[in-house]
Amino acid sequence: MDTNYITFTQQIKRKTGIDLRLYKEAQMVRRLTSLYEKRGFSSFQDYFQGIDKDNELFHEFLDRMTINVSEFYRNAKRWEVLETKILPNLLQENRGLKVWSAACSAGEEPYTLAMILSKFLPSHKISILATDIDENIIARAKMGVYPERSLQEIPKDMKKRFFTQDGSFYHIHPDIKKTVTFKKQNLLADTFETNFDLIVCRNVLIYFTEEAKDMLYKKFSNALKTDGILFVGSTEQIFNPSSYGFETEDTFFYRKK
Ligand SMILES: C[S@@+](CC[C@H](N)C(=O)[O-])C[C@H]1O[C@@H](n2cnc3c(N)ncnc32)[C@H](O)[C@@H]1O
Repeated sequence: MDTNYITFTQQIKRKTGIDLRLYKEAQMVRRLTSLYEKRGFSSFQDYFQGIDKDNELFHEFLDRMTINVSEFYRNAKRWEVLETKILPNLLQENRGLKVWSAACSAGEEPYTLAMILSKFLPSHKISILATDIDENIIARAKMGVYPERSLQEIPKDMKKRFFTQDGSFYHIHPDIKKTVTFKKQNLLADTFETNFDLIVCRNVLIYFTEEAKDMLYKKFSNALKTDGILFVGSTEQIFNPSSYGFETEDTFFYRKK
């Protein structure tokens, strides 16, 4: 590992608590180098001095490292499996599900969950925890306002039922908004709540090292009830589920044994 980058990761850890060494190195170095060069810095050391003094640069750095891309119903086929197979099973056992959307970005994922759950339960019975490391994106999630491109995958009837159009933006329905509680949380450092029936953690594990993934699968397993489900992203298959106490329920869905 480049010693300059190691020093940078230590400085960032001291400043923010975020351990960049648990993120895949080559990818992160590439993303950050292109950003600092664009801003006229020539090394990680210069760049840290810049970030440390200038709040705007610091927020731009956080923005670049977190990668907030998301959309409603991302990989629609998987959400169909959730709706037609996973949720009916979970709801058979229990009518009040404890649900968590981990690394929720601007809220597209937890609101998708809320919309699907509302097909089974009245909205006052739905309660979803949604967490992300990025405060700015959580503030946007709480606003619940989205451009058209975030809604491309969403079924037409749900778009009509749960959104109000305002020029080129769409506002999520207040009843759906009320079902989600947003909190700032670093998956790689903070403790987790327990007793979840369903944890959705998609499209963030791909950025982490094998060591970080291993630690997270264990933490997710401990956070789930017996028979609870972990739903991961469509490139994030777990290759040795049984070593974390999981069995495969369907592709990208794991049941805690
Ligand atoms: C690509 S988005 C995925 C959003 C959503 N889960 C989806 O699949 O569409 C990745 C999200 O992970 C968040 N993130 C990155 N590192 C994190 C960490 N250590 N703890 C919690 N969230 C993190 C980012 O802020 C970003 O919002």
